[in-house]
Amino acid sequence: TDQQLEDHFEGRVANDQRIEPRDWMPDGYRKTLVRQISQHAHSEIIGMQPEGNWLTRAPSLRRKAILLAKVQDEAGHGLYLYSAAETLGADREDLTTKLISSRQKYSSIFNYPTLNFADIGVIGWLVDGAAICNQVPLCRSSYGPYARAMVRVCKEESFHQRQGYELLMTMMRGTAAQQEMVQEATNRWWWPSLMMFGPPDGDSPNTQQSMAWRIKRHTNDELRQKFVDMTVPQAEALGVTLPDPELVWNSESERHDFGTPDWDEFKNVLKGNGPCNAERVERRRRAHEDGQWVRDAAAAHAVKQAARQQT
Ligand code: ACO
Repeated sequence: TDQQLEDHFEGRVANDQRIEPRDWMPDGYRKTLVRQISQHAHSEIIGMQPEGNWLTRAPSLRRKAILLAKVQDEAGHGLYLYSAAETLGADREDLTTKLISSRQKYSSIFNYPTLNFADIGVIGWLVDGAAICNQVPLCRSSYGPYARAMVRVCKEESFHQRQGYELLMTMMRGTAAQQEMVQEATNRWWWPSLMMFGPPDGDSPNTQQSMAWRIKRHTNDELRQKFVDMTVPQAEALGVTLPDPELVWNSESERHDFGTPDWDEFKNVLKGNGPCNAERVERRRRAHEDGQWVRDAAAAHAVKQAARQQT
């Protein structure tokens, strides 16, 4: 009966056993996963744009090769995640259509512009740092294909984080102008990075249920706190100041206290009104349309192959 199926499902989740594509699952569980995984996939794909913007202007061949590898990794992560969504019955064409018609979300962070090459370093350090913080626990997510995809994604994200930090270390050993670029980029990216973790727990409609289903392993605020605690010593080692006058070590709670992100700005970016929302979606739409001939050719080729195999 349905109750038995539900009990079996709940039991597996409670025992930290993985749910696999062919297992019975509640509709809400499937829906939540499709929502989160497709948003995640869209973020990886849209996330190629702010950095891709600097490929032709990287300051050296070495930096260009690193950046190229990184942007390609993001494409791979997106494809991985779309495949994970497909195991739940989602259709990739449908997901793409929803993205380019702004009916599905992607991470707020990719709606901010990259103004100079220090931004590439800061994105690696803070944005990929935040991504790792959020995604390492997802390796233990209850849905098998998502959890397994996260293992590889996190390994690559960790390379991304290090390349960013190494870039910034190099700039901080440079001229005063270079040091200023790093500080200025840090000032711009710090608060948007904290917003990546999502709304505060009290305003997060999905957290409670997703935690109960063990899709999410920590709340948004828990991960935000972890990220702040992890990043403060890195900023010190780098020699930059994080732009938050309220940021201070609290010896009682053994954590950092910190200021409140501008949640109105966050909501506004989610509504599509961030500095680059329109540009990002438009560029993705154009790329999709420009790729139509590739999809047509691949489909025609598949039909020919199938016909040949029948004879
Ligand atoms: N940017 C855009 N949308 C966001 C963000 C954000 N930073 N944070 C939350 N939201 C959206 C949620 O998707 C949800 O939207 P919906 O209900 O309309 O679908 C809404 O705001 C409310 O938030 P929550 O209830 O807190 O949503 P959720 O439980 O899904 O938590 C979180 C949000 C933490 C982002 C979660 O979905 C998650 O861990 N996702 C996987 C990681 C990911 O997507 N990373 C992408 C950026 S990292 C990178 O690609 C390098």
